[in-house]
Amino acid sequence: MSALGNLVIIFLSFLGLCFLWTFIKVVHKLWWRPTRMQKLMRSRGIKGPSYRFIHGNTKEILYMKNKAMEKPMSLSHNILPTVQPHIASWVKIYGKNYLQWYGTEAQLVVTEPEMIKEIFNNIHGAFPKFELHPLIKKIIGDGIINSEGEKWTKYRKLSNHAFHGESLKGLSPAMITSVENMLERWKSYEGKEIEVYEEFRLFTSDVILRTAFENNYQKGKNIFETLVRLIVLASDNIYKLRFPGISEFFKTNSQIELDMLDSQVGNNIIEVIKERERKVITGKEDNFGSDFLGLLLKAHHNAADNERISIKTVVGECKTFYSAGQETTNSLLAWVVLLLAIHKDWQEELRNEVLNLFGKQNPNPDNFAKLKKMGMVFNETLRLYPPAISLKRKVEREVRVGKYILPANLNLFLSALPVHHDSKIWGEDVHEFKPERFSQGVVGATNNNPAAFFPFGMGPRNCVGSNFAIVESKIALCMILQRYSFTLSPTYVHMPYHLVTTRPMYGIQVILEPL
Ligand code: HEM
Repeated sequence: MSALGNLVIIFLSFLGLCFLWTFIKVVHKLWWRPTRMQKLMRSRGIKGPSYRFIHGNTKEILYMKNKAMEKPMSLSHNILPTVQPHIASWVKIYGKNYLQWYGTEAQLVVTEPEMIKEIFNNIHGAFPKFELHPLIKKIIGDGIINSEGEKWTKYRKLSNHAFHGESLKGLSPAMITSVENMLERWKSYEGKEIEVYEEFRLFTSDVILRTAFENNYQKGKNIFETLVRLIVLASDNIYKLRFPGISEFFKTNSQIELDMLDSQVGNNIIEVIKERERKVITGKEDNFGSDFLGLLLKAHHNAADNERISIKTVVGECKTFYSAGQETTNSLLAWVVLLLAIHKDWQEELRNEVLNLFGKQNPNPDNFAKLKKMGMVFNETLRLYPPAISLKRKVEREVRVGKYILPANLNLFLSALPVHHDSKIWGEDVHEFKPERFSQGVVGATNNNPAAFFPFGMGPRNCVGSNFAIVESKIALCMILQRYSFTLSPTYVHMPYHLVTTRPMYGIQVILEPL
């Protein structure tokens, strides 16, 4: 055989080997690994819908979601079958903890409080958060939310300091200013219909802006407006799969815009930082400011190495503050108003409570502990319409939880909604709005079962901004109730759905009557 012939044979054999290798890898990823995991989990007592080639259960989930949303709901609070129809149906078939597939990724959906408690409270690092999608990292910043170990401890300490009682009191005048601005707008809606979800979006953004960038309001506004564009674009792109590596060389127009917006947000924050540093260096100011950014800057200039944070972290934490704190509080306030518009007796009770405590004066957070009924209404709203419904973790190494042994690298979905809507925990009236369940606090309402109610998560990674959200929401609701009564508009269409948070698909329309 000629040399050329040999070369062709070698080349074809090489090509054949490459093809075989790729084929084996694909079969391993798309069939062997999921099938093996499914078998293993079944042998350990965890069942679930069968894995389907490539798609897992995503097509079924999407189908069920679309079907559930074909027509609006009646005005019922039984929202699980609409918001997470797959979970509602699969827990009935496979049990409270079952395995589902997001493509080739195995996800253990956990809705049993005992197991949830064990996972959240584990302090040995057995259940870290799982690696975030790079686009999500662009939105929420590479900071407290997705860090672990010492890095997380440092960020958490900083955030705890920013949101503890005394710091929060200092932030309340900024929150009051934001409510005043919102209520100024509301004057043109008196006697008319107003859509409150969008109103609270503007309000919660303004609060974060004032509390994060108090001294640089306009620049902060530009930063957050760019961040919102970044969030919208990233959400649009998150399910567009690309070959790994290719996106480094060939970027689509939206990827180019994403990178541009990301660096614009970063550069603008750095500009504000430099401006503040200049003022301190030249003696114009004697500190970096008492808002959230000021606090981060103090940490950036900390003399102790282990306390100091980098500029990249400062930028990341500003993003986190916005992404974690805006939509969640937006959702809480909107559902509170819906429930009070339907249950006018509770609206009246809360108004009396507020007027007895503050009259027509601006609310004072020092007295917020006395707003007992309002606290009960917030809890009942967070139970029926929790803004954050699925919290994610992964199994770091093989570990026993309850009666199960879970393999390493399994992803966990700890689902609040099915737990909050479980009649075995809450009774036959589980879907009714009954704030009185919380008259003896959360402990009384849950029969001392902390994992039965976790709107703010649980354990060491619980929400660091929960007090911030509650103070902000109480200030807003007090000031609204002092000025207006509201009823549900006949145009309201009940369609809760899940997109990052639990939202009303068509907004929440109420008729606003000045008192
Ligand atoms: C009603 C409003 C809110 C709800 C329902 C809510 C809910 C939650 C939940 C469920 C978690 C735990 C996530 C997990 O375990 O994976 C969490 C964590 C977090 N939340 Fe909130 N949140 C709210 C408001 C806020 C606000 C206003 C801020 C900031 C100003 C904030 C900042 C954070 C941060 C930084 C974390 C991560 C904590 C850590 O990993 O150590 N949240 N939130």
